[in-house]
Amino acid sequence: MDFQLSEEHLAVREAARNFAQQELLPEVIDRDREQRFPAEQIKMMGELGFMGMMVDPKYGGGGMDTISYVLAMEEISKVDASASVCMSVNNSLVCWGIEHFGTEEQKDRYLKPLAKGEIIGAFCLSEPEAGSDATSQRTTAIDKGDHYLLNGTKNWITNGKSASVYMVMAQTNPELKHKGINCLIVERGQEGFEIGKKEDKLGIRGSDTHSLMFSGVKVPKENRVGEEGFGFQFAMKTLNGGRIGIASQALGIASGSLELSLKYAKERKTFGVEIAKHQAIQFKLAEMATKVEAARLLCLKAAYLKDKGEDYAEASAIAKLYASEVAMHNSVEAVQIHGGYGYVKEYHVERLMRDAKITQIYEGTSEIQKMVIARSILK
Ligand code: CAA
Repeated sequence: MDFQLSEEHLAVREAARNFAQQELLPEVIDRDREQRFPAEQIKMMGELGFMGMMVDPKYGGGGMDTISYVLAMEEISKVDASASVCMSVNNSLVCWGIEHFGTEEQKDRYLKPLAKGEIIGAFCLSEPEAGSDATSQRTTAIDKGDHYLLNGTKNWITNGKSASVYMVMAQTNPELKHKGINCLIVERGQEGFEIGKKEDKLGIRGSDTHSLMFSGVKVPKENRVGEEGFGFQFAMKTLNGGRIGIASQALGIASGSLELSLKYAKERKTFGVEIAKHQAIQFKLAEMATKVEAARLLCLKAAYLKDKGEDYAEASAIAKLYASEVAMHNSVEAVQIHGGYGYVKEYHVERLMRDAKITQIYEGTSEIQKMVIARSILK
């Protein structure tokens, strides 16, 4: 077992760290307050190769492994989880899905600009009445011969307004239950496709989360991904990788909370000494560091299995379950260590605390991860 990162891995981590510190940090508080999408920064992330990291270079991607992706996601998420969720959805759910299950025409038309970050994508599974219970899709895609007629509403869609390409799950054959679901690629601006209200969220406020409405949208048959009825499998398989992305996001929030706390503990004095000298603070820091280390190893293990071509569904659910708990724990502790300063925006930790919560909810709640893990270990 080799715990050493390669020179390439270290270089990717350094590049992501530099980008996050130089380009994301300066306005992150304002973007959070104003609920402003980091459009300019996402464009730069595309130019630097962060939006299609694992895509084959022949389709415009970076050709990197999943370990590199985890390292980059951690660094970006330490500073701006709104930018990193956009990055995660584009890489894991949209690019990976099209690259692995799409046709050459779909790769040419959609994957190439997505992988270069020229456009971004969204993944549309959740509905008002189908969040965790994803098999209960109410959105319908009626087969009309050469096209599907798409009707329905999707909720809580990340990149909802900023995306150009939407991977939409919809039911074609209800009698076949989840085996009747298709994944269709829908383009922004298609007739009958409307972008609904923007959610006013607790955290990741810079990311644009919208509802979407489809009223008789004509989607050509060639925009279906995979065989007829493959849509639910498509969603589950892409989410297995997506969970590595969100686990790494949670890891970044946790390690960012630790880094800020270490810095503050060496600067802030109480009772005549830096607070880092107080054992009460030392114990908190030690516990936070231990949890970060464990979460990082779980993320890297899931990435390693994926890169080796082995089954990683259980490992990615374990990584997400644990890393999201650590994100919550460490961000709350970071606020506590910062005291009154932790409760105001300037010190960043209150934002990390708000951002942490979503990692226990999206791409499957913690309870869904436990279902996935339990089914796997009981098999
Ligand atoms: N990997 C691969 N296949 C899987 C799978 C996985 N993790 N989980 C289920 N499947 C397959 C099963 O093997 C089964 O296949 P067969 O029909 O061939 O046997 C099929 O899917 C149906 O599975 P179940 O019988 O287990 O279905 P279920 O209804 O009991 O439970 C579930 C399925 C795991 C709970 C699933 O509904 C689920 O994962 N729900 C959570 C959905 C989710 O994560 N939503 C997040 C929205 S996306 C998002 O948040 C993106 C964003 O914008 C940030």
